[in-house]
Amino acid sequence: VNRSGFPEGFIFGTASSSYQYEGATNEGGRGASIWDSFTQRYPDKIKDGKNGLLADDSYHRYKEDVSIMKDIGFDAYRFSISWWKLKWGVNQEGITYYNNLINELQSNGLKPFVTLFHWDLPQALETPMAIIKNDFRDYAELCYKEFGDRVKHWITLNEPQTFTTMGYGNGAFAPGRCSKWLSSKCNEGDSATEPYLVAHHQILAHTAAVQVYKDKYQMSQKGQIGITLNSPWILPFSPSTEDNDAASRALAFMYDWFMEPLNSGLYPAEMVAHVHERLPQFSKEQSYMVKGSFDFIGINYYSANYATDGPCEYQQPSYFTDSCINITGCFPVAFYLFARNSRSFTYTKNKFNNPVIYITENGIDEINNGTISLEDNMRIDYHSSHLSFVQSAIMNRVKVKGYFAWALLDNFEWADGYTVRFGLVYVDYEDGLKRYPKNSTKWFKKFLN
Ligand code: GCO
Repeated sequence: VNRSGFPEGFIFGTASSSYQYEGATNEGGRGASIWDSFTQRYPDKIKDGKNGLLADDSYHRYKEDVSIMKDIGFDAYRFSISWWKLKWGVNQEGITYYNNLINELQSNGLKPFVTLFHWDLPQALETPMAIIKNDFRDYAELCYKEFGDRVKHWITLNEPQTFTTMGYGNGAFAPGRCSKWLSSKCNEGDSATEPYLVAHHQILAHTAAVQVYKDKYQMSQKGQIGITLNSPWILPFSPSTEDNDAASRALAFMYDWFMEPLNSGLYPAEMVAHVHERLPQFSKEQSYMVKGSFDFIGINYYSANYATDGPCEYQQPSYFTDSCINITGCFPVAFYLFARNSRSFTYTKNKFNNPVIYITENGIDEINNGTISLEDNMRIDYHSSHLSFVQSAIMNRVKVKGYFAWALLDNFEWADGYTVRFGLVYVDYEDGLKRYPKNSTKWFKKFLN
């Protein structure tokens, strides 16, 4: 594959998030985020006991990082704004940093794709509802005002499903709360309802941020706004009806949970059937506002899984459902991106009315064994095969408009700390955070030029 096989204007980039890249958590007019508190309070929940205090130090090295992107030939960079860096009152230092980054991107010909919320919620705003609609709307509006003259692609939330299940289901991510119908491993939280409420409030917050953009900014700024969702593709483990139903339920609880409200203003029927009254309801007016509240859908896609119909007690702790499914790993590279698109977005079922989509993340990790290895040929295979399936999807009229690799740099991988590496560029954490291009960098450079 090579970029000439993609339509004119198709966007290639890399993605990142503030807590994973920036570091400088004690500079720039900070307030603590839930990831600062979480890593401090539960270092044992992070594989190497580390945190994002330094990360890749992109806060200071953004110029170097932008120049690497430019050298490879990328068109865009997806990054997130750190809510707490921006807003304590209004924090001018935070605004200056993001202005500098955006200007640096622009002057190097790269388009900024900005995520408003990639999990680093200001600690002071942590409540059992996670995100309060009006707080989020005001923060979003500040971003449109300050940066919207140059930012033409906004992403409200990153992976609300992961934030909910990991942060409020099994407690593996900040803020470390648990739900008893998912995990008995920790007891902060322990409500059977909280994750559904957390998800619900994220949907409402997303909607409010979109609404204010559409009402007050879109006409003059002429940008697009969307949300990034995630899900593995799920295959039934056997052809049995039970396993087929299990696969469909699994998707309902991971993907349709958010996509169905965006599509129809309602939660998926399969969720309602299992969660009953613990699933919040949208009022008529909310339902009307949620429906269609996007110009595009971002998809973070990593791998596929098998689902079997299983008894509750064997439920995987990492999997979130009220409906008892066993999920096992499976990794048939490249087949399923297309498979997933054909079910979710297109001509066969046209389940979600074929929205415009951007692949906002796609990538693969390797274990960090402590020695510098730049030979990441498996990563080249991964990206090239996924890209060829993106191409097939486009030929089948799926409206994919861009593809972002996760990630340019190795970075802080949440509960895995720095023990796994997703970067096209190696970061030497032992030696001044020096950046070294891996083979995949060369591959992308060739692909893009
Ligand atoms: C996300 C992610 C990223 C991860 C990536 C690799 O947006 O979902 O969790 O922040 O680093 O998915 O696991």
